[in-house]
Amino acid sequence: MGSGHAGPLSGPPPGAPLIAIDGPAGAGKSTVSRAVAEALGLDRLDTGAMYRAVAWEALARGIAPDDARAVAELAAGATIEVGQAVVINGQDVTSQIRTPEVSRAVSVVAANPAVRRALVKRQRAWAARRRGGVVEGRDIGSVVFPGATVKVFLTASPEERARRRGGDEPADGVARRDRLDSTRSASPLTKAPDAHVLDTTGRSVEDVVKEVLSWL
Ligand code: DC
Repeated sequence: MGSGHAGPLSGPPPGAPLIAIDGPAGAGKSTVSRAVAEALGLDRLDTGAMYRAVAWEALARGIAPDDARAVAELAAGATIEVGQAVVINGQDVTSQIRTPEVSRAVSVVAANPAVRRALVKRQRAWAARRRGGVVEGRDIGSVVFPGATVKVFLTASPEERARRRGGDEPADGVARRDRLDSTRSASPLTKAPDAHVLDTTGRSVEDVVKEVLSWL
């Protein structure tokens, strides 16, 4: 089964809202998805943290991020928990996955189709175990949950995005990652045709969340 296959787990169970939030780095996905999840009393899944955890584990084991076979094997066999903490194979890597080294490696790892298949399977299983949820990433509305209740594609001006990410990643690093994430052949960052585009530049979190909730 390819990661683009819209199987039985590609949408929420009947009656359970599944909200897909996609967009480039610094568009506000984490802040907005957290606030929307809280407002609705739903769990939230940060799928970028899953790709980061795999990249971290590869680096920790001395596996080159572009060693497609070895990284795919690692992704398929790892236990990954993403909640308040990010844990891979029993090790808490919550802060380690935000280092510049992991940010540099993660786009190559995320471009690996076999890694994506392994992680998309877990993302669908996560949703199937719950009555709905808020899932953020790059391909959530387009590939992982084409049947999502609401799809949001967040954007922000390049200046605003660089400012938001500036604390943990240099602007040229963010731009490079966005370029790689948008131009890869396996599930590139893309807006689903039925996604609502929301530009968060200069807008408050409350205001943005209100608009997202109005689409439910
Ligand atoms: O959201 P983030 O910046 O922490 O994501 C880290 C990387 O993971 C990002 O460069 C692209 C990749 N990613 C992806 O390819 N698909 C997703 N659903 C989420 C993240």
